[in-house]
Amino acid sequence: MFLFEKLKVKLAKKLGLGSLARKKAGNYSITGANLKAASDNNIYPEYALKAALDLRTFSNFRQNPHYTPILEHVRKAQALAYLDLIKNEHGMSAPDILEIIEPLQQIGNPKKVMLDGLDFPVSTTALRYLYVALDIRQRCGDRVPVVAEIGCGYGGQAVILSRLIDIDKYYFLDLWQVNMLIQRFIESVDINFAYETLTLKQIEKEIRSDLIISNYAFSELPRKIQQPYFDKIIKSSDHGYMTMNSGVDGVYEGVAGFDQRELQSMIKNAVVTEEKPNTSEKNYIISW
Ligand SMILES: C[S@@+](CC[C@H](N)C(=O)[O-])C[C@H]1O[C@@H](n2cnc3c(N)ncnc32)[C@H](O)[C@@H]1O
Repeated sequence: MFLFEKLKVKLAKKLGLGSLARKKAGNYSITGANLKAASDNNIYPEYALKAALDLRTFSNFRQNPHYTPILEHVRKAQALAYLDLIKNEHGMSAPDILEIIEPLQQIGNPKKVMLDGLDFPVSTTALRYLYVALDIRQRCGDRVPVVAEIGCGYGGQAVILSRLIDIDKYYFLDLWQVNMLIQRFIESVDINFAYETLTLKQIEKEIRSDLIISNYAFSELPRKIQQPYFDKIIKSSDHGYMTMNSGVDGVYEGVAGFDQRELQSMIKNAVVTEEKPNTSEKNYIISW
């Protein structure tokens, strides 16, 4: 059966059925795909662990095909839209942009592209993180003492956010293998906040934060994992900013989480807004 599943994934990849390959890869999990996020598929977390432990892998992880189906896949057209918003909504100049995103331009060797309006090649993901950070600053102000993030990739959002907002403490909440990569990445950058990495199981009682962030991450989790994250962090956080890619019905790649109506009734003062730029028709932002 295991061999048969493996062959199906291989065939799906050959036929270019990426999301099927991604979903099927989840079936290798020991506890079952529906109890986990699609990204918790053994391939991506194991690769993150390898990048955390091996310098050669770390030096190139942001372009590796085991990694890019989950992260580092902002397309050039999307990057242009982020750049337009960064310049026109927030009045940022090209040199200011470069100064803020500089740590994300090199570490892990991201793919970089030339865009009209910038005279240097740019990491498209860095531009997304910059626009999100500017959006958060507009909503929450420029001092947020305690930030928690669920599903943090390699910690890129935190790095950019901390260059715009004064942060004392940052909690990174992710899979244990991914947390090791986050540590390696964060330790490679000049940062001005204290941090902790935790898995859901490592959270003892509750984390009190001023802001909880979760972009394309909480929304990918099944309800069984969302509920304890809600109880231990989200419900007591003063502010929140979550980009949801699970649509109004709360289903992402066959994994069912809370739907939009439920979330709005669970979170006091929650407001739903469109994702800007809109990168998938199901996406929306829930903030409070
Ligand atoms: C699509 S990525 C989004 C990463 C990042 N937020 C961004 O905007 O680039 C999904 C993230 O959720 C994480 N994840 C998967 N299962 C998780 C879990 N049970 N708890 C916390 N994070 C999880 C993945 O490791 C990954 O970092």
